[in-house]
Amino acid sequence: MLKTQYAGLELKNPIIAASSGLTDSVEKIIALEKAGVGAVVLKSLFEEQLASQSEHLLNSSDSDYPEAYDYLQHIVKAHEVEKYLTLIREARQAVSIPVIASINCYDDGSWESFAADLEKAGASAIELNIQKINPTTEYRPGTIGKLHVEILQKVKATVHIPVTVKISRNLSNLVSVVDQLRAAGAAGVVLFNRPWQPDIDIRTRRLVAGHPFSTPAELSDTLRWLGIVSGQVKMTLAASTGVHSPEDLVKVILAGASAAELCSTLYINGEAIVAKMLDFLTGWLKEQGFASLQEAVGALNYKNIPDVAYYERLQFIRQYREAANH
Ligand SMILES: Cc1cc2nc3c(=O)[nH]c(=O)nc-3n(C[C@H](O)[C@H](O)[C@H](O)COP(=O)(O)O)c2cc1C
Repeated sequence: MLKTQYAGLELKNPIIAASSGLTDSVEKIIALEKAGVGAVVLKSLFEEQLASQSEHLLNSSDSDYPEAYDYLQHIVKAHEVEKYLTLIREARQAVSIPVIASINCYDDGSWESFAADLEKAGASAIELNIQKINPTTEYRPGTIGKLHVEILQKVKATVHIPVTVKISRNLSNLVSVVDQLRAAGAAGVVLFNRPWQPDIDIRTRRLVAGHPFSTPAELSDTLRWLGIVSGQVKMTLAASTGVHSPEDLVKVILAGASAAELCSTLYINGEAIVAKMLDFLTGWLKEQGFASLQEAVGALNYKNIPDVAYYERLQFIRQYREAANH
C-alpha cells in the first residue's frame, strides 16, 4: 500500500533519510533501514570542503613548486572520494533499500568526473544539491537556472543511473527551472534544500550561524511549491524542509510529493518517528478510502483543486484581520 515511485526507483515507502550526518556511516544507514525508511541519501561530498582541505595541506607544506599544488589537491580529492566510494559499496552490501549518493555542487566544476565513480561503486541514484544566490546588482535573469541545467547535463552525460536535483526555494523562476530540469533529463527534483541560516549576535555584533534544524512552520512554503510544481511539471518530486510530524507527511503527499526526505525530525525525535509516520499514513489512507499511496500523491495539487488561490495568494487581508482580532 505504501509503495511509491520516485526518481525512477521503486521505494517500499515514501520516507527517505535526507542527506546529513545521519547518513554518513554504514552503521547509521543499517539503523535507518531497521527503523523502516524506504531509502537513504548519503551525506554530500562538498566541493568547498575538498578545496579547503587541500588548502590546509598545501599551507602546511612549504613547497615552492607550483606543480605541487595541483598534485596535492588531486591526492586530497582522490582520498575523500575514495572514502565516499567505500561508504557507497559497503552500504549497498549492508542494506537492501536504495542508497542515493549526493554531490553538493557549488559550481559546474569537476563533479561530472566523480559521478561515474559513484555509479560504479553502486549508487542507486545521484542527488545534486545546488544552492546559489546572486547577491549583486548585476544579475542576468536566468543565469542561475541555466547553471542548474548545465550541471545536470554534465553529470547525466557520464552516468546511466537516475540523477535528481535538490533545489533552493530562493529561485525566482522556480517552476520554469524545474521544468527545464525535467526537459534536461532529471529523474526527480527535491523541494527544497535548506540554506545555511545567517543570524546576528547583538552583543558581539557578529554574524553567527543560525539554527541548523528546520521548524514545522517552514512546511508551508514546501507545500506551496509542491502543489504548484506537481500540478504542472510531469516529474516525481520529493519534499524536504519542515516535514516533522506524521500529519506533515500526509500533507506533502497530497500536495504532490512522491517521497519525503526527512532530516530535522530524525535528529529531534529519533528514528522512532519513522514507524509512527508510516503507521499514521497507512491508517489515514484506509480511513480516506485510498487503495494505494499513489492515488493520494498530488490529490490536492494545483491541477486538482478548484481554488488555486490557496497556493498563489501571498497576502490575505481577511486572515490578517482575523489574526489582529485575536
Ligand atoms: C546537520 C545537517 C547536515 C546536513 N547536511 C547536508 C548535506 O550534506 N547535503 C545536503 O544536501 N543537505 C544537507 N542537509 C540538509 C538536509 O538534507 C535537509 O534538506 C534540510 O535539513 C531540510 O529538511 P528538514 O526540514 O527535514 O530538516 C543537512 C542538514 C542538517 C541539519
